[in-house]
Amino acid sequence: MCGIIGYAGHRPAATVILEGLKRLEYRGYDSAGMALIQNKELNLLRAKGKIRELEDKIAQCDPYHATSGIGHTRWATHGLPSEENAHPHPDYEQKLALVHNGIIENHSLLKRDLREQGYSFRSDTDSEVLSHLIGLELEHCWDIPRAMSAALQKVEGSYALALVSLNGEGQVWATRHSSPLILGLGQGENFVASDIPAFLPYTREVIFLEDNEIVQVSSSKYRVLDAWSLKDLDKEKVHISWDVQSAQKSGYRHFMLKEIMEQPRVIQDCMSGRVDLASGQTVLPELDHLPLPRRLHVVACGTSYHAGLWARNLFQEWAGIPAEIEIASEFRYNPRIIQDGDLVLAISQSGETADTLAGLRQAKQQGQQVLGLCNVLGSSIAREADGVVYTQAGPEISVASTKAMCSQMTALLLLALHWGRKGGKLGDSDCRDLLQGLNELPELLDAELPGMREKAQKLARKYSWSRSCFFLARGTYFPLALEGALKLKEISYIHAEGYTAGEMKHGPIALVDPEFPTFALAPDNGLRNKLLANLQEVRTRGGPVICLTPPGLEQDANDVWEIPSCPEPMNGFLFLTALQLFAYEMAVYLGKDVDQPRNLAKSVTVE
Ligand code: AGP
Repeated sequence: MCGIIGYAGHRPAATVILEGLKRLEYRGYDSAGMALIQNKELNLLRAKGKIRELEDKIAQCDPYHATSGIGHTRWATHGLPSEENAHPHPDYEQKLALVHNGIIENHSLLKRDLREQGYSFRSDTDSEVLSHLIGLELEHCWDIPRAMSAALQKVEGSYALALVSLNGEGQVWATRHSSPLILGLGQGENFVASDIPAFLPYTREVIFLEDNEIVQVSSSKYRVLDAWSLKDLDKEKVHISWDVQSAQKSGYRHFMLKEIMEQPRVIQDCMSGRVDLASGQTVLPELDHLPLPRRLHVVACGTSYHAGLWARNLFQEWAGIPAEIEIASEFRYNPRIIQDGDLVLAISQSGETADTLAGLRQAKQQGQQVLGLCNVLGSSIAREADGVVYTQAGPEISVASTKAMCSQMTALLLLALHWGRKGGKLGDSDCRDLLQGLNELPELLDAELPGMREKAQKLARKYSWSRSCFFLARGTYFPLALEGALKLKEISYIHAEGYTAGEMKHGPIALVDPEFPTFALAPDNGLRNKLLANLQEVRTRGGPVICLTPPGLEQDANDVWEIPSCPEPMNGFLFLTALQLFAYEMAVYLGKDVDQPRNLAKSVTVE
């Protein structure tokens, strides 16, 4: 996610903004910039890379007389990381500059209309369209909130934005829709920011802005307006008692927990601009230049591999495309038949995993087409693939991958649906129903999170003595069992194995005893009774069983964890979240370093 800070006060704005951006670095970014107004000039300072590159730019000029301005750290979603694509973006006349966090879904249409009016664009970003729209409105009215209101009524998508204008030196305007923005109230100075850490050293008095509220700040005053009626609003002030560090996690104790709890938003963001619920159409222009694959070879590591495994049946059932899911480090050394018309799909959150990148390069050397599924824009895999679909999950800070898998599953579901429709395997009504189910998932998941966390805490405490355990499942839940085992291993250091339940009798059941618990995934599907029979084999040997199951169904377990059902394949997202929270709460209870587990790196860039 991008980071925004706006300042109007008595200090040199460049310094305040720079320090604020540093306290937003945890959000992840690939470029940074600021806009300052001094001596009736609009100064734009932007740099690709880290904030120190921006500091070098500032050192080359003397912006320290400005006492108001805006700053931004950019997490690229549209347009590669570069100085041109870095925020702030000026309007066409360069009378204002704007920073944005979010995704403008209809930016292509808006750009086309503006180009037809003779406007040109300096960047490849979706955000720049906002500054042009507001600048255009300002030509008809001198009032900035009014211009913002008129412009934003044409915009679809999510935004938190802040702007400065030559029409109002010493002031900052901001607004939000589906993207966070907070007002900080100081003594002779005021702030707007994406997150509290940006201004916490200066003030603890804040106002949390709601969607469709415009705020106007100067050093001594602030106004909050309804973005459509432009009526003044009375807003409650809140005192923040957090320290900076915990504020960077939005109050969560660990980034992993924050990222698990963000998953409803992540599903929405991954879908953003890519689905039309009414028609059941998926909009994936990233695929337009690629033919319908004859066969898929999915290449990935770790959690990304589990996401690919989970999606295999979707490709086969929805699109009639056979899919082989390969661990990247094996793919490279085990020759396989890849024929013309096949497509290699490289899944990687970081886009830098050495084994996956090597697999991609090998496939390309063999003349194969490769599609990337990545989260980091402009990463190596994204750049070297023949095409890339971004998961738009925002930066994942915790080493243990959680929201990345959730976004990968969402994107893979959209891919399978897109190809299923393109190949004529899925009809309009099937697509509409499936997309409607996916669209309802975030709200359902969001409602279940608090209860899931509470149950996970209880079970983690109860089984914290475990030294080893099984995660059992059948069918499409087997990849989730693998993921549940991986999560527990990597952050609590308890040995865990994901297994297909039918395999237990072929050897592994020899391990089962009262010291060896089994965590079973038991959705209400055609394989449930067979799974329950396998659990009986465990129970009769004294093995404790935790059963993850929809409510009100028969099962025989030591502990039952009930979570609601929703249509397949969305139901898997609920099971995944429960498994993530179980591993998280176990690691917390055992006092492990949750976000930075021993021996692990966030991106494994070595073979
Ligand atoms: C998962 O929690 C681990 N962090 C690890 O397995 C990770 O999924 C794997 O290294 C692949 O990373 P990537 O998605 O960035 O390629």
